[in-house]
Amino acid sequence: MTTEVPTIRLNNGTTIPQLGLGVWQAEDAETESIVRYALAEAGYRHIDTASAYANEAGVGRGIATSGVSREDIFVTTKLWNADQGFEPALKAFDASLDRLGLEYVDLYLIHWPLQNEDRLLRTWEAFEQIAESGRARAIGVCNFEPHHLALLVNRGGVVPAVDQVELHPNLPQDEIRVAAADYGITVESWSPLGGTSGSGWGRHSKPNALLDDPILSRIATQHGKSVAQVIIRWHLQSGLVVIPKSVHEERITQNIDVFDFELTAGDIDEIAGLNNGARVGIHPDKMNLGAPD
Ligand code: A2P
Repeated sequence: MTTEVPTIRLNNGTTIPQLGLGVWQAEDAETESIVRYALAEAGYRHIDTASAYANEAGVGRGIATSGVSREDIFVTTKLWNADQGFEPALKAFDASLDRLGLEYVDLYLIHWPLQNEDRLLRTWEAFEQIAESGRARAIGVCNFEPHHLALLVNRGGVVPAVDQVELHPNLPQDEIRVAAADYGITVESWSPLGGTSGSGWGRHSKPNALLDDPILSRIATQHGKSVAQVIIRWHLQSGLVVIPKSVHEERITQNIDVFDFELTAGDIDEIAGLNNGARVGIHPDKMNLGAPD
């Protein structure tokens, strides 16, 4: 099955499929089979992993056995906090490519900003060198607040292509979206369905209450779609790149089956009312997990 997923042009001229498969919390072995299924059966062409997910090798095996050409797949991975700094970042990137079994990634992202801004800027210098080498087709960041984006942009040099942040109807991240638009940075949504409640891990994790929301449920019924499909459509119609995660084949298929309906302006207005600022992840200004200093 092939599905025409729209692409978005990044600020360096490369393009990213607007919908991809996220694999956070998927174990390495099951990652291989879900990535293969997503590519070979469900029509995905964009996979989002990270060195901290400990499943890059599974992503690589899934790609290798999918039968889909490497150049037709958009692959993102991320640098973990412990590897920030110039030399550590270069080394960590090599290790990620090795685990993935790839010669290049399409997008390499700094996973979190650091409190230590000097080290963060040295990391970005390494990213620029990696981009220059062609082994990452684009470079970007995750979890950057407007002040972190300003730090990189004001330095001169490469402007991040992407800022991947926690973003869903409870947390639409308006300020980050305005700042990113000013800089020409594309915003990607992680935990786009509202993430997990923190109870359990992998197959045992439980989706957040957003998937049971009565307003979303009514909109879903009106369109003959699921709540997850309505939320994914909201991201797409908001111009965001969206990477819903699932380890279940039927959900992976369902989450890309979103191109035969459209939310109305009234639906979008109602969904705007779900903004309550609730986040499932740590606020980036408070996050320094694993950082060297
Ligand atoms: P699972 O992997 O068990 O399917 P996200 O982190 O992308 O916001 O997703 C939150 C959770 O929603 C995931 O852990 C995933 O669990 C679950 N999920 C993904 N797709 C669907 C779907 N179509 N319907 C219901 N739950 C879903």
